[in-house]
Amino acid sequence: MATTTETITQALPTLSLRGAPSGQEQPRPESSYRYARLLPHFSPTTYPPLTPFEHDEPGLRALEHERPRAFLDGATSVVELTPRLGTEVHGVNLAQLDAIGRDELALEVARRGLVVFRGQQEFIDRGPDFYLEWGRYFGRLHIHPTSGHPEGYPELHLVYKDANATFNFERDESTTTTLWHSDVSYELQPPGLTTFFLLSQPETGGDTLFTSQVSCLKKLSPQFVAFLRTLKAVHSGVEQANFSRAGKRGGVVRREPVENIHPVVRRHPVTGEEALYVNRQFTRRIVGLKKEESETILGFLYDHIDKSGDNQARLKWQPYTVAIWDNRTTAHSAIVDYGESKERRHGARITPQAERPIPAFNGLEL
Ligand SMILES: [Fe+2]
Repeated sequence: MATTTETITQALPTLSLRGAPSGQEQPRPESSYRYARLLPHFSPTTYPPLTPFEHDEPGLRALEHERPRAFLDGATSVVELTPRLGTEVHGVNLAQLDAIGRDELALEVARRGLVVFRGQQEFIDRGPDFYLEWGRYFGRLHIHPTSGHPEGYPELHLVYKDANATFNFERDESTTTTLWHSDVSYELQPPGLTTFFLLSQPETGGDTLFTSQVSCLKKLSPQFVAFLRTLKAVHSGVEQANFSRAGKRGGVVRREPVENIHPVVRRHPVTGEEALYVNRQFTRRIVGLKKEESETILGFLYDHIDKSGDNQARLKWQPYTVAIWDNRTTAHSAIVDYGESKERRHGARITPQAERPIPAFNGLEL
């Protein structure tokens, strides 16, 4: 086990789920399930507030490389999923990428928003210690305040649903499971390069939607974008915490929820591209505007993000697929359309935090 995890687990021993609401038992390890040791665990261990840190951006280093896409030299296929977002790669073994290759990967993900690597059995089968080492290369690993994690590995965020339990964030009262968001955007330093893969998946369904927030912004008129650049918005983790406090998703809140203010239009530190940075799940209001003004502008932007299929890509998972996205310039949504099949969907996310969002407008004070 990696040093930091050891430190955390030794300092804060894992406790039983005493006091957890009924019906939110942790999935029992099944000896027949290959990834039983990665099933979600809901330790009530708590953590202090996150502290600011200096993010070292690996994509910046690759800008100096003579051939910044050299890490794709061994690929058998590199196909753009859509013109604006996403690339699908076959024939590159992520588990074997050295530091130079990882820097180039970070640059490619920054440029394409999403890069999907097929056939990554070695990466997935190397297990949780490797996942941590991988993630730490790209930034400080985030510990999710409410989701399940493999026992002893709080830095790994799990999504999980099977015939008996769901540990996803789902809105039963909604007409759709589609909920566009950028992961944990309520943090002062939200994630950058984010790695996600499935350990178990339904026969069909459970795809993931992605959208380019760079393209979403480009669709708007220059006058409106100029106004948006002057705005900042509150992002909140309170509702997500309350969802767990209501006894759902394992019923634990490990760190008190936070709210932070981010620019409505942020600038990517490597590409310099501007991206819309609001999302329906976590953005709550625009600072300084009247309630109705804020709701109208955010409502318009959410509708724009929701319905702009021309900015989106849809990832259909296959066994041993690893998806890597830039959480700063894209948004995504789960599609929970497989519930009736009672099949298991078990995914793991490695989530390094990045810089505090950089305003596109230099004069914007946060
Ligand atoms: Fe997400």
